[in-house]
Amino acid sequence: MADSKKKEVRVFAPATVANVACGYDVLGFAINEPGDEVVVRMSDTPGLRITKITGDGGKLPTDPEKNTAGVAALDFLKHLGMQDTGIEMEIHKKMPFGSGLGSSAASAVAGVFAVNQLIGQPLSKKQLLPFAMTGEASADGAYHADNVGPCLLGGIVFIRSNDELDIAKIPVPKNLWAAVVHPDIEILTKVARDILPKEILLENATQQIGNLGGLICGLIQEDYGLISRSIHDVIAEPRRQKLIPEFYRAKRAAEAAGALGFSISGAGPSVFALCQGKECAEKVGAAIVEVFTGIDLQNQLYVSPVNLDGVREL
Ligand code: HSE
Repeated sequence: MADSKKKEVRVFAPATVANVACGYDVLGFAINEPGDEVVVRMSDTPGLRITKITGDGGKLPTDPEKNTAGVAALDFLKHLGMQDTGIEMEIHKKMPFGSGLGSSAASAVAGVFAVNQLIGQPLSKKQLLPFAMTGEASADGAYHADNVGPCLLGGIVFIRSNDELDIAKIPVPKNLWAAVVHPDIEILTKVARDILPKEILLENATQQIGNLGGLICGLIQEDYGLISRSIHDVIAEPRRQKLIPEFYRAKRAAEAAGALGFSISGAGPSVFALCQGKECAEKVGAAIVEVFTGIDLQNQLYVSPVNLDGVREL
């Protein structure tokens, strides 16, 4: 292992779309941008230190025990009995907080992956999952792998059990693209989770299970019709949409422009549409942007195929 250690490593961890409409807490995919960068280097001073954070507007703590990237990396180093290894970490936030794009997951994944690369890759990406999860949970208090899983592994990731961290990658149809729009408001994940009902009607559970199964079958079979019929969320979206201005107008605009389906990305406020092909995704993205811009709500559009790689070294 010692031979493969590096002096400095820079990594990029991509944004993710969690839930994908009908898969609350159990389905997510990665996109190409935005994403966070983390740089780590060996140091003679024992222990992990966060020496620089940019792009956070001064919001993030530099104490590694209070910072998602730091918590994930420390948990990993402790697991290896290497917590005294001297490591300096820089975090470059390149996506907004509370955006529904998996910002805290990206930092946690980048932190643990960078350190793993630096010390000679003792663990596989999949083995890093629990440490990245601990990092993300330190930010939003909830334990769900639908951002961390795809951010780490890339592609579309299904989580059979968050408690057991039993996850599986789903094949990605060749021409599947996403238009993701982030309207410039902040929604705290905790708030968006607190407004969800503790109990749901059996009828709604049945519909949601049908849609989730349909979406997964559609993805595996590259059946865009089945994908389109399945992207519906009867549980979280009806409650959370009220946090996003003009949500239903944006949804109608996306569908009219040819989207396969449209819903909230993670806990919001970002929204996403799945599309067949880049051209369609660009058209759909423009239609969503027009709705938010029409009410003077600043927004940012990302058009991307599903990111197949997940976190990577730069
Ligand atoms: N599945 C989570 C939620 C994603 O919807 O609350 C939050 O990032």
